Amino acid sequence: MFVKNVALKNYLSYPELYTEFTEGINVLTGQNAVGKTNLAESIYYASVGKSARGLRDKELIHWGGDGNAEIHLTVQKKYAKHTIDIAIDKQGKKRIMIDRIPIVKMGELMGAVYVVYFSPGEMRLIKESPVDRRRFIDISLCQQDKIYFYTLVKYNQLLSQRNKLLKDYYNSPTLKSMSDIIVEKMCREQEYIIKKRKDFLSRLAPVADERHLILSGGKERLELTYESEEIDEKNIPESLKELYDKSFEKDKHLTYTTVGVHRDDLKIVAGGIDIRKYGSQGQQRTAALSLKLAETELFYRASGEYPVLILDDVMGELDETRQKALFAHLDGIQSIVTCTSFEKEVASSATIYEINDRKITRL
Ligand SMILES: Nc1ncnc2c1ncn2[C@@H]1O[C@H](COP(=O)(O)OP(=O)(O)OP(=O)(O)O)[C@@H](O)[C@H]1O
Ligand SMILES: [Mg+2]
Repeated sequence: MFVKNVALKNYLSYPELYTEFTEGINVLTGQNAVGKTNLAESIYYASVGKSARGLRDKELIHWGGDGNAEIHLTVQKKYAKHTIDIAIDKQGKKRIMIDRIPIVKMGELMGAVYVVYFSPGEMRLIKESPVDRRRFIDISLCQQDKIYFYTLVKYNQLLSQRNKLLKDYYNSPTLKSMSDIIVEKMCREQEYIIKKRKDFLSRLAPVADERHLILSGGKERLELTYESEEIDEKNIPESLKELYDKSFEKDKHLTYTTVGVHRDDLKIVAGGIDIRKYGSQGQQRTAALSLKLAETELFYRASGEYPVLILDDVMGELDETRQKALFAHLDGIQSIVTCTSFEKEVASSATIYEINDRKITRL
């Protein structure tokens, strides 16, 4: 799929902007703070309904601007063209329409435009807490599989119910039986989540390894494994139930739930070492990029279409050999790349745009 055009109104640094994009490599250049990331992020927003940098909705409204912030996208898929229209009001309330029809639940937005987003902040994926690694897996799966999205929402609701119970009914003799009711439901939901996550990783790992090998100039192999509690794969709900029973006293004491998919992690080994902890900056950066490129490829294999790849500010971090290796593997993928300046010989087919004074010009 590819984004044909983007129109912004009253959004971040743009009072008004319209631009078209090509199906191939689109490079947004310009000095610092001209709004390259802001524009790239509007596409991400239209894919998941959230800012990639974690800005709150009302923070997306142009300072001093009057009225709603608006993002409008036209997306070309294999068999159909779609429009996405987003309006955010001063209270931070958003209205989203797909093909002019308002959506009722955020889940309906998933898959309307599929984006893989990479920015230096994405290094979190490797070196920060498991939360970021789980989010990576979850966001990929949610966009591909609505059942996964709703299952995860349900699980998280049950998890907060149980945590609340552990806090509010700490001394109650009925705590265990009340918790058991919730645990039973949690176990059932988790079976789907665990299976899907493992299945996703088994497909992701070999592709990420291959990309990593290319990007590291044939020097390093990448291994990905799902880290979770030891459970019986053939009977996940029962097996999880036993773990909850075992950890009940501990959970009661801590007043939160220590067992479940909200604690699982992704182990990332490159060149034989766990790079979550011991990796060099370059290893971590290359691995993060390999993961994102693998995600792109997997989406293609599952749907027959490539997602839009957004590479925000990664060029400066890669040497020229790696930049060339990267662009040589973007065939058939629409990519939106931001950087302060771009050497045409890195990718001769790229279309270059310059952003300046809130305007965009195709060079
Ligand atoms: N709500 C807002 N209204 C108007 N301007 C905003 C708003 N929020 C952020 N900005 C402006 O957007 C600018 C940042 O834009 P952006 O992050 O897109 O820059 P960039 O071109 O990606 O820069 P860099 O090269 O440093 O990454 C900030 O300097 C700020 O002035
Ligand atoms: Mg930027």
